[in-house]
Amino acid sequence: MAIFKAVKVSESVYWVGAIDWNIREFHGYTTHHGSTYNAYLILADKPTLIDTVKAPFKSELLERISSVINPKDIAYIVSNHTEMDHSGCLSEIIQAVQPEKVFASVMGAKALKQHFTLPQEIIPLKTGDELSLGNKTLAFTETRMLHWPDSMFSYLKEERLLFSQDGFGMHLASEERFADELDKGVLDYEFATYFANILLPYTNLITALLDKIKSAGPAIDIIAPDHGPIWRRDLTLILDKYRTWSEQKPTRKAVVLYDTMWHSTERMARAVEEGLHEGGAQVKVMSMAAVHRSDIAYEILDAGALVVGSPTLNNNIFPTMADVLTYLKGLRPKNLVGAAFGSYGWSGESASQLQDILKEMKVEIVTEPVKSQYVPNEGVLAQCHDLGLKVANRLKEVAV
Ligand code: FEO
Repeated sequence: MAIFKAVKVSESVYWVGAIDWNIREFHGYTTHHGSTYNAYLILADKPTLIDTVKAPFKSELLERISSVINPKDIAYIVSNHTEMDHSGCLSEIIQAVQPEKVFASVMGAKALKQHFTLPQEIIPLKTGDELSLGNKTLAFTETRMLHWPDSMFSYLKEERLLFSQDGFGMHLASEERFADELDKGVLDYEFATYFANILLPYTNLITALLDKIKSAGPAIDIIAPDHGPIWRRDLTLILDKYRTWSEQKPTRKAVVLYDTMWHSTERMARAVEEGLHEGGAQVKVMSMAAVHRSDIAYEILDAGALVVGSPTLNNNIFPTMADVLTYLKGLRPKNLVGAAFGSYGWSGESASQLQDILKEMKVEIVTEPVKSQYVPNEGVLAQCHDLGLKVANRLKEVAV
């Protein structure tokens, strides 16, 4: 018995994707609430499939398509994004459907060939190209590096519906297909977490894209991303959130991030926390023993300061700190101030190494690192408190 059904999104568009309740790891990002791989079917004169799903979910996709149309009636397939959570079963779907034509962006056509042996040529599309589906029209915009070189938006003109691939998406598994049907707290958290972990490195491109959307006028009624729920209300709010996160104007929020071996660095972190608080900063203290790197990325998204601490282990920072700072460096957060601290036994490199990493991340260093040999004494804790106070005072000057 077929159990999976398509869900109507608009006059001619159906959601035919898959729900992945169990995924918790997405290339380094912990997906607390699972995800969906969204694919869409346009029931036009030339029935068209927008994207596919991750390979293990191929049957779910085909079943949902079959609930409204014979899959062999699909004329066109458009691949908006090559990453394998959306193209993993493309080859098998092409074989099953045998469409007249398959399309992707210029970069997508190249990238798909580098991923798969496909049974059909991919027709490249560039910005400004349009595809007639008979009674409907798709218009295309290449969105290179948002977030892969191949990424592309497809816009269904007659229904003012934007297929935005990963853009405006989130990792959130649910039976509800529309954002306005979901708990707002969970929605806000997952929307921001997705932006922080996937899109943060590309904020300059996002700002330019938002300007382009704005200058085109109010031409979008529905945003249908490749993950999570579909947006059909408050689109201005959604676009405004993307703009705010892209600008990353500094706030009075400080993230204190540390790991500890025998609680010495932890005691230093708590003293830094008190100094920050006394200086009027909003503080979030995060121990690598308790949180995941993607949760830290979420907190950094609206922070103005990053203060980091680590013990010295074998002349280096703690491995967990190297992990998270490598991750954060790749995400390229902007407009942060910060400082470093750390405890040690005999060599004591960690705090200086942390400061060097902050500099590589273009974090403005507010004050020199504080170091503690073995267990911090009252004097060292006072230095940590002062470090926090100085960072808080700098935030007062730069925060908007
Ligand atoms: Fe959802 Fe970039 O893949």
